[in-house]
Amino acid sequence: MGNVFVLDHPLIQHKLTYIRDKNTGTKEFRELVDEVAMLMAFEITRDLPLRDVEVETPVMKAESKKLAGKKIGLVPILRAGLGMVDGVRKLIPAAKVGHVGLYRDPKTLKPVEYYVKLPSDIEERELIVIDPMLATGGSANDAIYALKKRGAKNIRLMCLVAAPEGVEVIKKEHPDVDIYLAAMDEKLDDHGYIVPGLGDAGDRLFGTK
Ligand code: PRP
Ligand code: URA
Repeated sequence: MGNVFVLDHPLIQHKLTYIRDKNTGTKEFRELVDEVAMLMAFEITRDLPLRDVEVETPVMKAESKKLAGKKIGLVPILRAGLGMVDGVRKLIPAAKVGHVGLYRDPKTLKPVEYYVKLPSDIEERELIVIDPMLATGGSANDAIYALKKRGAKNIRLMCLVAAPEGVEVIKKEHPDVDIYLAAMDEKLDDHGYIVPGLGDAGDRLFGTK
């Protein structure tokens, strides 16, 4: 069964409070999401394997470590997922970035796919699907299926805020996928918004409301 990790680092939790605050404007919101994404990436990559290498310091030869093997791929779900990509890339600059375009139909709350463009070697990569919001779980579920259909084998999901309903969907449909969150919220409201949540992540990131 996929594991759910709530990343309770004090800096993540502190910054998340400002992200949630309705009085936080677009510029600050974007900067905070970027910072939290970077901090989350630090925690999410904790288990990456290392290999021994030798390095010549100005003093002497020394045993040291480098990341071993697995290449990373980032897959933001458009459009709100874009707000977290640069933060992750600050720590993993060599990661390739694929995109899955989905929007949630406001009436049915079902995701509608409009774009998929991925690195050609996704089956060899450790993929991190990125979306700030995991609400009904429909978008992340479809995005993960879209990756698996194209050969992806190792997938993690990274979200800022989740509702229990969305987490249950991913656990049931994709028990192989570990989920990393900054917060697990209470529930969904009648419009499928996360409560207490942070509102519409895409609109707040891009100033479209
Ligand atoms: C939001 C959010 C997720 C999705 C979550 O995207 O960024 O992708 O809703 O909801 P779900 O778990 O119920 O599917 P939205 O459809 O608003 O599109 P946007 O990113 O373009 O704003
Ligand atoms: N999408 C958002 O942007 N916010 C929510 O609360 C739910 C879905």
